[in-house]
Amino acid sequence: MCGIVGMIGQVNTKEILLKGLEKLEYRGYDSAGLAFVNDGVQVFKEVGRIAALREHVPAEADGFAGIGHTRWATHGVPSVPNAHPHQSTSGRFTLVHNGVIENDEQLKAELGVDLLSDTDTEVVVQLIEKNFKATGDVTEAFRKTLKALHGSYAFALLDSENPDVIYVAKNKSPLLVGIGDGTFNVVASDAMAMLQVTDQFVELHDGEMIILTRDNVTIQDLEGNILERAPYTAEIDASDIEKGTYSHYMLKEMDEQPAVIRNIIQKYQNEAGEITLDQSVRDLVLGRDRVYIIGCGTSYNAGLVGKQLIEQIAGIPTEVHIASEFGYNMPLLTEKPLFLFLSQSGETADSRAVLVEAKKLGHRALTVTNVQGSTLSREADATLLLHAGPEIAVASTKAYTAQIAVLSILAFDLAKAKGKELPFDLMKELALISSAMDTVMSQKDRFQEIADEYLKESRNAFFIGRGQDAYVGIEGALKLKEISYIQAEGYPGGELKHGPIALIEDNTPVIALVTQPHVHLNNRGNVKEVVARGANACVIASEGLDLPTDAFVIPMVETLLSPLLSVLPLQLIAYYAALGRGCDVDKPRNLAKSVTVE
Ligand code: F6R
Repeated sequence: MCGIVGMIGQVNTKEILLKGLEKLEYRGYDSAGLAFVNDGVQVFKEVGRIAALREHVPAEADGFAGIGHTRWATHGVPSVPNAHPHQSTSGRFTLVHNGVIENDEQLKAELGVDLLSDTDTEVVVQLIEKNFKATGDVTEAFRKTLKALHGSYAFALLDSENPDVIYVAKNKSPLLVGIGDGTFNVVASDAMAMLQVTDQFVELHDGEMIILTRDNVTIQDLEGNILERAPYTAEIDASDIEKGTYSHYMLKEMDEQPAVIRNIIQKYQNEAGEITLDQSVRDLVLGRDRVYIIGCGTSYNAGLVGKQLIEQIAGIPTEVHIASEFGYNMPLLTEKPLFLFLSQSGETADSRAVLVEAKKLGHRALTVTNVQGSTLSREADATLLLHAGPEIAVASTKAYTAQIAVLSILAFDLAKAKGKELPFDLMKELALISSAMDTVMSQKDRFQEIADEYLKESRNAFFIGRGQDAYVGIEGALKLKEISYIQAEGYPGGELKHGPIALIEDNTPVIALVTQPHVHLNNRGNVKEVVARGANACVIASEGLDLPTDAFVIPMVETLLSPLLSVLPLQLIAYYAALGRGCDVDKPRNLAKSVTVE
């Protein structure tokens, strides 16, 4: 979703801001803009990629302070007038915003000024000007404006009369301040944007604002009380966010999966090779009578697999819910529920809305996320980190496998704490799976052939499987549709004949997973049913369950953990299908990496 960068106090602000915006490209956007303040303000905006903005900004443009923005349209189409930064009528104030102001229509009516864009942001910058005219004090005008807003925001504001300050504020949308060397400070939606100049960051909490100068960071609440907060070191290596020799981040991130599993083993085991979870996590979950997993998209799909792990290994009843539906369709909660939030980014607004509600009701929450210090992590009672390294491609791959691996560790740890018999040696199994992942990834070319053979000309595709394979199929369908735009659906094999089989015609691609020994014959039966109706069936089977006609055979691993491996072929097929169609694999249309609006 929208991304914000800002910098004060250093020459070459323009280049640092443009590089910062490029680092935020992964979040998804449709237009971008920059503003600098020196003697007056200069604003530049473009629809499309940062590269287009870069070309549009004259070489000599720069400033002592500057702000930049990538926009993901919510109010009004992607266009230059709707792109940020937005300015007040006099041109004194210039604002960038991530979030959604819910009472913008009411504020607009009260303002009574003509607006140049359809955005809620322009309403805010006009209100700042109006409040400034009434108070004569910029800080006071900014604070008064923030108090009038309902909704989510991260703001960075320039005042053309005072290039020595950037005003910053946050409510529900992510924003960090980066601490420079005493000659500059920066602000960004995400630490990755500013790792180029600092690894020291200060968190901003909801309902707070910051007065940022080149050598000072003053945090205040909306009553003007000064707050103290120590910076933290972002544990991200700047090289982790580079593509290196890879053509796409998605390819790099798929390739990283074996190493991610090995890293997770290392992070969650002690010297004796036993699982070690923080006692606070165990205490949080034990004694709870039901786990409610909350997630969106791929994280929700990982939750479907995780439910099987927690129920079958730890013996704790578990439900999985789509975050955006939970508010309206809240299930009857048990007496002692545990809310488990699954989120790669830790910033997804739909999931956060459930967390806020759960906390209001006094329930306990555990977050499983890839981003230390993210909102869902900070606001839950405890966090388990994925240790997958930054995931940049919009299509989530390594976070999915990392989520399943971490949930398996949680399930085993709880089972052990409850004195339950453990079904297998988890750490040994995970190590075997990471080697099996290497084996699959070393045969990438085969998936290019499969994508060409089965998906080149097709408008739609089905994924079928039973047991854990059914859930992996749903994830495979999501990967395919989001990056190749082929309509794709994942179904439990047995469900086809209750409706979807009506869509099967000559050459309809049906990708079938056969990795579950207890149901493999049933799924083979479903494959026969679709083939009898003309489908082009592509079977991916585990060794020992395979047939000579199968498209690809993966090593046999523990049935419950098979999604860790069987998803790799589906990710690769989606990748090559998208490449074959000339799609922008890392930045699919309409999508954002970090979905910070509900
Ligand atoms: C799909 C994808 C999305 C995310 C979803 C949740 O490839 O990336 O479906 O999984 O937006 O995001 P997080 O996990 O950050 O909460």
